[in-house]
Amino acid sequence: MTNLKYASLLGALARPLLFRLDPERAHGWAVWALRTMPLAGIGVDHPRLAVTAIGLDFPNPIGLAAGFDKNAELITPILRLGFGFTEVGTVTPHPQPGNPRPRLFRLTRDQAVINRLGFCGDGFAAVHERLVSRPQRAGIAGVNIGANKDSPDPAADYVRGIRTFADVADYFTVNVSSPNSPGLRDLQKPWVLDDLLAQVLAARDAQAKKFGRKAVLLKIAPDLALTELDAIIACARRQKIDGLIVANTTISRPASLKDSARGEEGGLSGRPLFGLSTQMLAAAYLRVENQFPLIGVGGIDNAENALAKIEAGATLLQLYTSFIFKGLGLPEKIKYGLLRLLAQKSYPRLVDATGAAAADWASGKLSANNFR
Ligand SMILES: Cc1cc2nc3c(=O)[nH]c(=O)nc-3n(C[C@H](O)[C@H](O)[C@H](O)COP(=O)(O)O)c2cc1C
Repeated sequence: MTNLKYASLLGALARPLLFRLDPERAHGWAVWALRTMPLAGIGVDHPRLAVTAIGLDFPNPIGLAAGFDKNAELITPILRLGFGFTEVGTVTPHPQPGNPRPRLFRLTRDQAVINRLGFCGDGFAAVHERLVSRPQRAGIAGVNIGANKDSPDPAADYVRGIRTFADVADYFTVNVSSPNSPGLRDLQKPWVLDDLLAQVLAARDAQAKKFGRKAVLLKIAPDLALTELDAIIACARRQKIDGLIVANTTISRPASLKDSARGEEGGLSGRPLFGLSTQMLAAAYLRVENQFPLIGVGGIDNAENALAKIEAGATLLQLYTSFIFKGLGLPEKIKYGLLRLLAQKSYPRLVDATGAAAADWASGKLSANNFR
């Protein structure tokens, strides 16, 4: 049986049971199952889906977004399911418990999740140990770094993250956009961000001789006003970051939400985030003027909306919430679908589609309504 069929079958059998559990317990079971499941690696990806960016060769553009594998326990199984890369974290210097439970809510009717986990995790030392012992270091694994909740100097936490993981990370993400750590999003303010990025990039450069130059990406919120986006991108260009991830979860609540959990506090992800995050992606793409690539994330759950993200300006993609709702076979399904769409739309390779519809998304001519 192929990996796709095997994973889809297991997912289809397990999902009704997992969905009866509290979402955080269900996640715990899913992590256990993925660690123990005997998955063979999938074959080689089609070269039309390959992407070279941020100094790395990605076999395909579909990455698992930060938050699913916070503690670097699942890198090998995730890559074996067909993801082109994975991002562990957010990792903070010291282990921390995060917010009180319940703090994770499934909005099944909306194919969405609200979370207010608050950077719970094992901390730098434990995650570093797991990354060091990763077999052969095959495949691409980025490390998403953050600051502890009670940190007196958040910038120092990020710098420490770069120093700690320089030997094992394939790239870094500086997460200043999770809505569940008080004050974190204030690091997006340009005068704070300028200093933070300068310190982080200097730390990266200092490690480059010994461990190679690792790309540093910045992950931003989808809730920024365009004037705030202008300032962030000016700062990112000035500091010469290597890429921008658009976007994290939203604190907004679209009027279309139906599920009774919609009033819970935290960051909303999944299908209802697609329009907002894609608009923000396109706006960012037009401002970045090819100075660095963008990673599009938010509400991707099929090949059509994956290609839409690329056309709005993404070079690479990430997803999380749809992996919960649609199951383990999703990355393979999206890749098959993308190949079909590339042929239909006469794009020789996926990278040829990047930004083709950015102006239409930014002007509102295209919106989530075109991708129901
Ligand atoms: C339960 C949960 C936990 C998350 N934790 C993190 C995190 O620790 N760091 C981070 O940068 N993003 C985190 N995210 C945000 C995702 O990486 C992603 O940006 C967001 O969910 C939008 O993508 P999606 O609609 O495909 O889920 C989390 C998302 C969810 C649903």
